Amino acid sequence: MTQVTFIGAGNIAYAIAGGLIEGGHPAAHIVAADPMPGQLDRFTELGVQAAGSNAEAASGADVVLLTVKPNIVETACGELQGALGDALVISVAAGITLGSLQRWLGDHPATVRCMPNTPALERQGMTGAYPAPGVTDAQRALAEQVLGAVGSLLWVPAESDLDAVTAVSGSGPAYFFLLMELMQRAAVDLGLDPDTARQLVVKTALGAATMVDRRDDDVAELRQAVTSPGGTTAAAIGTFLDGGLPDLVTAALGAAHRRSIELAAESD
Ligand SMILES: NC(=O)c1ccc[n+]([C@@H]2O[C@H](COP(=O)([O-])OP(=O)(O)OC[C@H]3O[C@@H](n4cnc5c(N)ncnc54)[C@H](OP(=O)(O)O)[C@@H]3O)[C@@H](O)[C@H]2O)c1
Repeated sequence: MTQVTFIGAGNIAYAIAGGLIEGGHPAAHIVAADPMPGQLDRFTELGVQAAGSNAEAASGADVVLLTVKPNIVETACGELQGALGDALVISVAAGITLGSLQRWLGDHPATVRCMPNTPALERQGMTGAYPAPGVTDAQRALAEQVLGAVGSLLWVPAESDLDAVTAVSGSGPAYFFLLMELMQRAAVDLGLDPDTARQLVVKTALGAATMVDRRDDDVAELRQAVTSPGGTTAAAIGTFLDGGLPDLVTAALGAAHRRSIELAAESD
């Protein structure tokens, strides 16, 4: 049975461990390490083994997930050197390049860098991933199995694409939260009570995303299909377009993309 180890027992680790167990992976074959023993309590309640150190957690592992904050990755990698064997190492740390990871791990070849997003906490995540050249097909399948426990996974053809992934899906949930926040506020201004406004907005967002997800139609076609000339939707969409929303969205994603590149350069 595949042994999966988490270095850092935080939120993303808890989401992935929970997803694996829900999907049938025995909790006894999952190990977690964290310097704060209290952090491990909710993992041991799931049946996960708590390790006394990062090196102990990595020993015998098939997959080691680095689920610590980006500023901790170098220290954690140092503690793993010599303990990894031929385990696949998967890092979820934003902005930490494969080059840095492999250097800090002592030239460990089997390394995957990925960018999940917060809906992983609800098993609805979208993860972009890029494998180092030393990752075998079997290890790719292993990464798909582990990261797929919390949602969907897409491999990108170049590591630099992860900066775009960060700008689109990594930071993306917050863009939709902002739009929903603004729609709720406008709904209250139109006279609805806050609870009603929240329900209308959330269920509309969920319904719209489900329609796009389940159909092959282009998003623009779906929008045009519900926008009758002279109708209420056309009045709103016209206001968005006249107000410069398309340019604003392009600029916002561009800013996130540039920031991702800057952060990766700072950690290199
Ligand atoms: N949450 C998400 O949805 C999400 C999405 C995309 C990417 N990520 C990435 O995932 C990583 C973790 O995020 P998170 O939200 O799960 O953070 P988190 O909840 O803070 O989890 C990190 C855990 O690592 C522990 N830790 C600190 N130093 C350690 C060490 N030397 N060895 C082992 N464990 C150590 C921390 O303990 P202390 O609390 O005591 O410091 C904490 O429990 C980050 O790199 C982030 O960029 C997360």
